[in-house]
Amino acid sequence: MYQYQCLNAVSEAGLSLFPESYQRTQSMEEADVLLVRSASLHETVFPDNVKAVARAGAGVNNIPLKTCAEKGIVVFNTPGANANGVKELVIAGLLLASRDIIGGIEWVKAHAGEEQIAGAAEKEKKRFAGQEIEGKKLGVIGLGAIGALVANAALHLGMEVYGYDPYLSVDSAWNLSRHIHHVRDLEEICRECDYITLHVPVVDDTKGMIHRETLSQMKDGVILLNFARDLLVKEEDLLEALTTGHVRSYVTDFPTKKLSGKERVIVIPHLGASTDESEENCARMAVRQLQDYLENGNIVNS
Ligand code: MLT
Repeated sequence: MYQYQCLNAVSEAGLSLFPESYQRTQSMEEADVLLVRSASLHETVFPDNVKAVARAGAGVNNIPLKTCAEKGIVVFNTPGANANGVKELVIAGLLLASRDIIGGIEWVKAHAGEEQIAGAAEKEKKRFAGQEIEGKKLGVIGLGAIGALVANAALHLGMEVYGYDPYLSVDSAWNLSRHIHHVRDLEEICRECDYITLHVPVVDDTKGMIHRETLSQMKDGVILLNFARDLLVKEEDLLEALTTGHVRSYVTDFPTKKLSGKERVIVIPHLGASTDESEENCARMAVRQLQDYLENGNIVNS
C-alpha cells in the first residue's frame, strides 16, 4: 500500500489511474510521494518518508531541486504532456496582439442593451482594425515540445517561421517541419522577425535573456510573446521599449506587478496548460512515473 498527497489541484481523471492499492492522504508525514502543479514547494520541509515529487507540468522552478537532491527525493516533471494546450493559447496570443479583439469586446460590453448597438458598432469598427499574421515572420526561441508545436502550427497559418535552439534534441528535430528556417544566433531572430515567442526554461543562461540590448536588436514594432516564464525578461527594459513603441505589444501568460495593466501589454493569468486535456495528460504521466518508481525503481521522465 502506497500513499500519495496532492499539494494542489491535479486532474482527478488523471489520478484515477492510481490502482486501488494507492491511497490519497492529506498528511505529508504519511505520503510516499507528492504531486504538485504550480504551487511553490520552496518553503516545504520534506519529512523522511517522501521518496518522490511529481510536477504535473513542465517547469520545475517551483520545486527546490537542491533540497530534494540532498534528501534523495526523486523529482519528475511531465514534459510535453500539456504542450498542445500551451500551443493553442500562444496562437490565441498571436491573434490577440494582431487584431484588437479585446478592445472590440470591451466596446460591445460597454454598449450592451443599447437599441442602436449594431449601427454604432459599424461606425466604430475602424478603430479596432488590425493585421493578419499570414505572411509575417515568427521567431520561435526554444524548439522543445511546446516551441516545436507552435512553430508547426504557425507554418500552417501561413507564417514564415524562424527557429533558434542551440540545444535542439533529436526528438524535437524529428517533430519539426522542414520549412522552418533554423538560425544560429538570437540576433538573426531579432533582426528578421515581426513576432517573437519564447519557449525556453529559466536556467542561468536564459534568465533575463530579453534585455535592453536584445530588445534593441529587434525590429521596430515587434510583437513579443512569453508563455514560458516571466524571469526570461528584464521587465524594466521591456517597459522602456513598450513606452517608446519599439515593442508594439507584449503578450504574456504571467501576471507580474510591473507589467500587468500597462499599455500595450496583454496579460493572461497563467492559463496555458489549463485545459481538461492538458491537466489530465500531465496527471496521467505523473501517476505512471510515480508508480513505476515506487514499484520498479524506474526513473523515467516521459
Ligand atoms: C508548466 O510548466 O508546464 C506550466 O506552468 C503548467 C501549469 O500551468 O501548471
